[in-house]
Amino acid sequence: MHILVLHGPNLNLLGRREPEIYGSLSLVEIDQRLQAQATELAVQVTCRQSNHEGVLVDWIQQALGEFQGLLINPGAYTHTSLAIADAIRGTGLPTVEVHLSNIYARENYRHHSWIAPVAIGQISGLGGASYRWGLAALVQYCQEHQS
Ligand code: DQA
Repeated sequence: MHILVLHGPNLNLLGRREPEIYGSLSLVEIDQRLQAQATELAVQVTCRQSNHEGVLVDWIQQALGEFQGLLINPGAYTHTSLAIADAIRGTGLPTVEVHLSNIYARENYRHHSWIAPVAIGQISGLGGASYRWGLAALVQYCQEHQS
């Protein structure tokens, strides 16, 4: 099983970016942890980051056939991107949405997610562990729904 991990805009700044909100882990460290977890789970993980909505849409479209699931932190596109939601809906790729911060405990404009209705589920607010639980849940879902 091969899982695609997508990080959206500004997540390349993790570690330096508002550490009181997003923690001190860098994106490289998050990806390394996911790779170690993937080995434990006996799955393959490919991690990518982009600041560009269209690039994320392209990667989601191209994932069909190569990847069995998508773990995504869409960053600020969570709250704006019908295009990313449509790409996920259009491919039918099983998707788990993750956020480092608890988006529901923050500004009102972060409370709405375009991605949530097209995801299996969402994990928000557990810092780096959001990715850990997200990957575990996604792999379990994909194993249970393998065709
Ligand atoms: C985020 C939450 C978003 O509201 C924000 O724009 C981000 C990061 C998170 O992981 O907590 O860039 O997705």
